[in-house]
Amino acid sequence: MKIPDIIIAIDGYSSTGKSTLAKKIARKFSFLYLDSGALYRGVTLFAQEEGLINRISIIDPSLKEALKGLELHFDAEGKLCMGPRCIEQQIRSMEVSSQVSPVAAVPYVREWVDEKLHEFGRRGRIVMDGRDIGTAVFPEAQLKIFMTASEEVRARRRYDELVSKGESPLLEEVVKNLRERDYIDSHRETAPLRRAEDAFELDNSDMSFEEELAWVQGLIQGKFGIL
Ligand code: DC
Repeated sequence: MKIPDIIIAIDGYSSTGKSTLAKKIARKFSFLYLDSGALYRGVTLFAQEEGLINRISIIDPSLKEALKGLELHFDAEGKLCMGPRCIEQQIRSMEVSSQVSPVAAVPYVREWVDEKLHEFGRRGRIVMDGRDIGTAVFPEAQLKIFMTASEEVRARRRYDELVSKGESPLLEEVVKNLRERDYIDSHRETAPLRRAEDAFELDNSDMSFEEELAWVQGLIQGKFGIL
């Protein structure tokens, strides 16, 4: 079976299960999976460690210059590394989650991340998830999926994920963080979260993962004739 050189863009709200779905599709079709949110999280961790963001998320403008010295890449397991250090665990913490949206709203941060995404995505055959992949980063993507789910379902997923990683979040805090992130992500000036006109919408509030996967495989088969 010949697999075409396509880009699949999966965008949508926080905690809709984008990365789980994207990883599964990538594995099934031997595509490269790229998690664009991880890069925004990596930049946020960097800003925090360098003291370039304060408690109320005011970002020091010198972050722009400092980014020239930041090296982020994915290792063979798809985990994000800052230079030699694997930062996968830190970037998933509530501390980073609570400041990532304001950082991702800064135009020069978006330019920095977009450049990296294009570099990583040059080889084609990729599945990338994020907020603006189908609208701004790869508007030419051959398949675009826009994911949504009810707030209740998303908050519960995020809560369970944090607990499974050993954190002890409060459910109200998780809900508050989701709402804030969705608001900032959809209202920022540069590349806000929105469904691309040619994206297929997937609301998985009441779907099992198997049903979701079957839905996407149906789309892929219909569009590209691959199973
Ligand atoms: O998918 P995630 O929750 O790991 O993303 C973290 C943040 O990064 C999210 O709040 C918005 C931002 N983001 C973005 O603005 N554009 C992307 N393509 C991916 C993520």
